Amino acid sequence: MELCDIHTHLVYGVDDGPPSLDEALKGLRALRDLGFTLVAATPHRRTALFPDMRAEIPRRFEELRAAAGSEGLRVELRLGAEYFFGDDLFEDFGSGGVQRLGAGNKFVLVEFQKFSIQEFHKNFIFKMSLRGLVPVLAHPERADMSSSSARDMFDYLVGNGALVQCDLLSLVGEFGWGTHTTDRVLELVDRGIPAAFSTDLHCTAREIELLPRAIEVLTARVGVERTAALLGDNPRQILAGKRPKGPA
Ligand SMILES: [Fe+2]
Repeated sequence: MELCDIHTHLVYGVDDGPPSLDEALKGLRALRDLGFTLVAATPHRRTALFPDMRAEIPRRFEELRAAAGSEGLRVELRLGAEYFFGDDLFEDFGSGGVQRLGAGNKFVLVEFQKFSIQEFHKNFIFKMSLRGLVPVLAHPERADMSSSSARDMFDYLVGNGALVQCDLLSLVGEFGWGTHTTDRVLELVDRGIPAAFSTDLHCTAREIELLPRAIEVLTARVGVERTAALLGDNPRQILAGKRPKGPA
């Protein structure tokens, strides 16, 4: 099975991903060993936490691609971004420079810290749709969805065409966010909500160690065919700019 990942932190020295090209290559090798052959690098675009590195990212991305190519690592790479839903996204939308999941694509990876329904947010999502842009919600299982307003916003987004990407490592309870995240991701899976699972790899040894088990957990829960859709066909469709047709 050839896997595809639409959410990774592989561009070195620009966010909380790998600090060096060597570490980035370690992460990429690990992805290749797991069967990933098409991978989007999605550096954070969240200037409240990370510096604005847009001028530097394409060069470091090409450096990674060249280094991977010269060691014969057969992984096709795309460049995207992981937006925090807030000022940076609004600013890039205003200037027409939203970084999609690959050139010419319509999908934009967006993370929410807390879903909250506000008219301004709904209007913005509507304006995105008028320009043909579709949000892909990054790991909503990690967001605060404790209030009914948060659940309303999530349902509004999904009801209006947003796609949902969950993190593989959310399936492995001890990784960072606690068992409630695992409960939530399993609930989303059981409701058939996620279109894709991703590694959200930051290139740490702990993530690399846990990923095989996370894939096993997903397979045990949904079976081989749906795992293939969530880790292969669907994300591949998204990077091709198409809505996934396979089982969600
Ligand atoms: Fe991420």
